[in-house]
Amino acid sequence: MPRAHIVLDKQAVIAPVRRRTFGSFVEHLGRCVYTGIYEPEHPSANKDGFRMDVVDLVRELGSTTIRYPGGNFVSGFRWEDSVGPRENRPVRRDLAWHSLESNQVGLDEFAAWCRLTGSELMLAVNVATRGILPALDLLEYANHPSGTALSDLRIANGTPHPHNVRMWCLGNEMDGPWQTGFMTAEDYGKTAARTAAAMKAADKDLELVVCGSSGSGMPTFGDWERTVLEHSYDHVDYISCHAYYQEHDGDLGSFLASALDMDYFIDTVVATADHVGYKKRSAKKIDISFDEWNVWYLKEHQESHEVDDRWRHAPRQLEDVYSVADAVVVGNLLMTLLNRGDRVTSASLAQLVNVIAPIMTEPGGPAWRQTTFHPFSITSRLAAGEVIRPVIDSPTYETARHGQAAVIDVTATVDADRAAVFLVNRDTAQPAHVTVDVRSLGSTRVLETLTLSDPDVYAKNTLTDQTRVVPHTNATTTLTDGVLTIELPPVSWSALALG
Ligand code: AHR
Repeated sequence: MPRAHIVLDKQAVIAPVRRRTFGSFVEHLGRCVYTGIYEPEHPSANKDGFRMDVVDLVRELGSTTIRYPGGNFVSGFRWEDSVGPRENRPVRRDLAWHSLESNQVGLDEFAAWCRLTGSELMLAVNVATRGILPALDLLEYANHPSGTALSDLRIANGTPHPHNVRMWCLGNEMDGPWQTGFMTAEDYGKTAARTAAAMKAADKDLELVVCGSSGSGMPTFGDWERTVLEHSYDHVDYISCHAYYQEHDGDLGSFLASALDMDYFIDTVVATADHVGYKKRSAKKIDISFDEWNVWYLKEHQESHEVDDRWRHAPRQLEDVYSVADAVVVGNLLMTLLNRGDRVTSASLAQLVNVIAPIMTEPGGPAWRQTTFHPFSITSRLAAGEVIRPVIDSPTYETARHGQAAVIDVTATVDADRAAVFLVNRDTAQPAHVTVDVRSLGSTRVLETLTLSDPDVYAKNTLTDQTRVVPHTNATTTLTDGVLTIELPPVSWSALALG
């Protein structure tokens, strides 16, 4: 049995637990919005047509910031279509997902839904196929209190208070040839700088996210970040990272070590941003908005023909059904984002409902939790205070994709009167025996100990078996004289709350 020993020192602070790490993402894509969050005919719908069964799950998930309305969708979006009387809103073609967009849910409705779920709205503006003025108009409509043409229009449309949106993405994945209106790094860097400068002239306190690469596998990765920031550094606050992982060709060992890739990706983007900052002799640091991350069976999606030539409203798209192994990887990626809270100060799990999502729904039917729901919601609930740097003594294993990986990974947070420890066992066959020295934390009691695992690592929750995979109390946990011991099943994710 692999054995690992971990020492936690509450003085070894990495960063505060950033609540925005628990952000998510709602795109007008497939059934994320329509029959996902919005379905007026559903028995649980409120007066505004929002499914309250989904609202309850979103609250339980504990997502904080919600990025909206895209994604690739934003690059063909005219925000004006989505406000005002619903009967006047046009139906448009969305080229990104080859779908029809009815605009029955728009900015004001989505902002109201965010308030219902207790989350912060984060908006993306279309810089790909529209200019600076529409971005400024959207900003005025969304945030200006009253007394101007567009703020008064918002009020006339039934929303008296401004939405006060703080975080704004300057487009989406602008390096991707699939993006409507994609650009070179030079063109995008200049566009982003001009748009950002104008938006900050309206409100200097906005937090603006410039697009990084669509992924670290892009041929222009690194150069893209450098060039874009050379143009826009002084005007923006964040650069985005996007990363999706999947198991390739039955290589579970590599898949379980995906967090190493995320960590390396973050290192590289931070180094590139700081390189530009040093060259500019700037005192300012650019943080990372990791605003798309998840497990996504992208290869299978690209090879399938889920959407044909017809133009359909809210077709089923990207409805990945997640396994135990997927949930372990998601839990581990979230641990990495917390561990990198010194520079990753905002993140969005992509996406929230139905589309590569922790929450699934059936039209007219139930809503349920995917396996990936659990590590996210438990971490959002338990992580508090500050993230501390653990000292880990763990066996390692060789992976084809990421080199040597530790069998055991850990993240720990400490607050005034409690602590939380999150653990992953990446061994595909054996349980691991782990000891954690928590003497520095002063913890004396285990308040909660939950493990997500299953003898079938590919077990999933489905419409017909919605609770096939749920976390269980880990009865192997003990805490004696400041040393915690726990047995972690193979391919498992665990969380402990200590008091
Ligand atoms: O999240 C799904 C899609 O993935 C987004 O629309 C796009 O930004 C990314 O390629």
